[in-house]
Amino acid sequence: MADVEHTIGLLLGTEDDWPRAYEALLRRVGVVTDAQGRTHRTRSVRVTIEPFNLRDSPRHDLVIDRLAYWYYHPREWLKKIALMDDVYLLNSPFTFQSMEKHAAYCAMLRLGLKVPETVLVPFKNPLDNSRYAYTSARYNQPFDLEALAASVGYPMYMKPYDGGAWVGVSKIRNVAELHAAYDASGERLMHLQAAVEDYDVFARSLTIGPETMVMKFRPELPMHERYAVDHNFLTPTVGDEVVTISRLVNAFFRWEFNSCESLVKGTEVHPIDYANACPDVAVTSLHYYFPWAMSALLRWTIYCVVTGRRPRLDTDTAEYFAVADDPSLDYRQKLARYRRLADDYFETERYEEFCAKHLGHIDEMVAGWVGSEEFRALLRETVRAMYPPHEHERFLGHFTGLIDAWLRDHG
Ligand SMILES: Nc1ncnc2c1ncn2[C@@H]1O[C@H](COP(=O)(O)OP(=O)(O)OP(=O)(O)O)[C@@H](O)[C@H]1O
Ligand SMILES: [Mg+2]
Repeated sequence: MADVEHTIGLLLGTEDDWPRAYEALLRRVGVVTDAQGRTHRTRSVRVTIEPFNLRDSPRHDLVIDRLAYWYYHPREWLKKIALMDDVYLLNSPFTFQSMEKHAAYCAMLRLGLKVPETVLVPFKNPLDNSRYAYTSARYNQPFDLEALAASVGYPMYMKPYDGGAWVGVSKIRNVAELHAAYDASGERLMHLQAAVEDYDVFARSLTIGPETMVMKFRPELPMHERYAVDHNFLTPTVGDEVVTISRLVNAFFRWEFNSCESLVKGTEVHPIDYANACPDVAVTSLHYYFPWAMSALLRWTIYCVVTGRRPRLDTDTAEYFAVADDPSLDYRQKLARYRRLADDYFETERYEEFCAKHLGHIDEMVAGWVGSEEFRALLRETVRAMYPPHEHERFLGHFTGLIDAWLRDHG
């Protein structure tokens, strides 16, 4: 028996691969001793959906959420346990309003990041609301879409202000494509955003608490090939800038589990999408990087429950804006300040010390598990569930090769 028992809830939709990995690894972590010598055991449970009384006390200390972005019953449950029970959330639904791209663009522009030229255009079709006709007749200004597009410059992207999963995203090269895309947008609110053309590399970073993995991403390839295994695709300076931007975005919005996309051209980093607060961590997407993601998720969740880290619903935008608005600071100096604010929020130093002292065994444990038959079975079953039978062998070979490469590098 440990002195303290913790429960981590997993709020899940269709996925089964990473939750099984996380559960198996958490079982293997065993007892963790904190700085005061108390012992902690952490177990995970899957959250089920059922009526809840607002006065009920949850049994969870922390919940990892991959569902509430579309399923509102558990989202309201998350709000209840955040407001009433201080449960630690990855991520809090109170940050969802700013999860849409638009708010994130605005905030990052204010902070001085190199977000491409972006315009929000009004709805193309009338809204289904009895007040719409009167209101729009009175207040909607006619506008010249072609002139607006010309001011943004071709080529550009039209994409939903709150997008995800590439839905409704189109590249626009000329006036005909512009009209076609706007006509098709219907009741969806759209940005026009200048394309970053001829970029050298697409850096996609996954951040969990204070840990970030920057990966080379190839959006033009099928999902299983999008992340390339490449450890030196950015110079140290640019790599560090991408890490800073990712951590900054997350600390600013209180996201603790998020992915961030940046287009790198020469030495310039242009963030284009960084509001993915339910990031894809499937083994069939992350492959080589999957063990890292599971280790980071284990370390951060255990750190939070064992140290009793308090959830923070309040944001401290003023501190960031003070840096943003200081005319004596240039871009690099601002980034360095933001990095410090973000590291303070995530307790990066304290976290690293904790990991070194109390979780030193995790890397070896994860490597042992990834090399085990249990993991192979998980991979096999995930491939079978995901691809048609005639492709099982090919994909199993593909992912096994990548996992073996990870084992060679980390075994
Ligand atoms: N300004 C831009 N310059 C160049 N390419 C862009 C730009 N905006 C979007 N793209 C391309 O379009 C893709 C989808 O755009 P975006 O990431 O904004 O949409 P999304 O719906 O969030 O997609 P996902 O869920 O895959 O991240 C990007 O991965 C990138 O390849
Ligand atoms: Mg994207």
